[in-house]
Amino acid sequence: MRIVLGVGGGIAAYKVASLLRLFTEAGHDVTVIPTEAATRFVGVATWEALSGHPVSNSVFDEVHTVNHVRLGHEAELIVVAPATADLLARAATGQANDLLSNTLLMAGGCPVLMAPAMHTEMWQHPATQANVETLRSRGITVLEPASGRLTGSDSGPGRLPEPEAIFEAALALAGAPSVPATPPLSASDALLASPRGPLAGLTVTISAGGTREPLDPVRFLGNRSSGKQGVALAAAARDAGAKVRLLAAHMDVPPPAGVNVVKVETALELRKAALHAAADSDVIIMAAAVADFRPADVSGTKIKKRDDVADPVISLVRNPDILRELVETRDAASRRQLIVGFAAETGDADGDVLDYAAAKLRRKACDLLVVNHVGQDKVFGEDTNSVVILSRTGSEPQEASGSKSDVAAAVIDRISAELSRVVPPA
Ligand code: C5P
Repeated sequence: MRIVLGVGGGIAAYKVASLLRLFTEAGHDVTVIPTEAATRFVGVATWEALSGHPVSNSVFDEVHTVNHVRLGHEAELIVVAPATADLLARAATGQANDLLSNTLLMAGGCPVLMAPAMHTEMWQHPATQANVETLRSRGITVLEPASGRLTGSDSGPGRLPEPEAIFEAALALAGAPSVPATPPLSASDALLASPRGPLAGLTVTISAGGTREPLDPVRFLGNRSSGKQGVALAAAARDAGAKVRLLAAHMDVPPPAGVNVVKVETALELRKAALHAAADSDVIIMAAAVADFRPADVSGTKIKKRDDVADPVISLVRNPDILRELVETRDAASRRQLIVGFAAETGDADGDVLDYAAAKLRRKACDLLVVNHVGQDKVFGEDTNSVVILSRTGSEPQEASGSKSDVAAAVIDRISAELSRVVPPA
């Protein structure tokens, strides 16, 4: 997972070096952004050596990469420790006066955790408490500071929680297992992947489950996808020797062992994860049920029933078509990559399932389209499935049915056949 670790200017910054070690040793890719004041406590050299990345606190370094935009967009988790009273105030008021505050403003959907540390008086001051309240109402997790001995002779609430506690809380927030973390696909995943098989040496990214589009902090628009077919595909790709990355939206079933799981919630989060994953994927299978629309406005607080105002009306905006975008991105970069879509179709008086599916395949321009015939007795969440695999090259439609594992094996076989025909594995 790509983590941005923001470090505030407090003496507890030295403890954050241990937190950084915990993240990197668990395999996460961490970019440290200290504030100017933080570098007076722990120098840039320490952060660079421990993270393995260049470290800056200015938006004017590496201007050509528009660093704050890139870091904010790419981060899958942002952790700020120690979050000083000043940093909490700057974040709460949306200031953008250094690289860290800019990055916090640019962070779209990714989870943000702040671990405060300061003297008790500063923590309990109404200004700080109001800032914490504001940040929490925006969905940012602000940990309670620990109690105990502070920097001087004073003691009370205000200590930075222990690095292990921040580490656990941060990974739980991001939905990642704290041990073992297996982010960028590499040696550790290779150990789990079967060394042989038709997809040996290839990286396969699979999206699964249903996205959830928030309306307010407690409600969302979702769908009935169980994730079972995507999980079966991930297991089948793993068994065929691939390194597998599962982009998991909401699923009713656990992910299979031996695959790298990236949790996502919304279509926009899935889009970001999929475009990022595409860079090193040989095969992408979009099995997730992606919401076509999301609420135009997301309330920061729970929408209340009120007798004095009219009941709310939900207006929706359209989500991007990720599958289409993946195909366009691949074609623009002339990448060799096989992209597979899924489609749940019904027939009607104007055409049968295959007519509609063929039109969708043309529209989406992916290489294979796995078509589910959704009828009365073929419902979401079932353990069996019946599909037709259509190919853009126009070869004969291929039918597959049985358990979702049987269908997954047939899809993976078909992908292997397409790859050996079009893109021979290196
Ligand atoms: O257009 P439709 O939703 O039927 O297309 C289904 C296929 O497109 C699936 O592979 C799904 O994962 C993908 N999709 C997408 N982005 C959307 C909607 C669907 O990638 N916004």
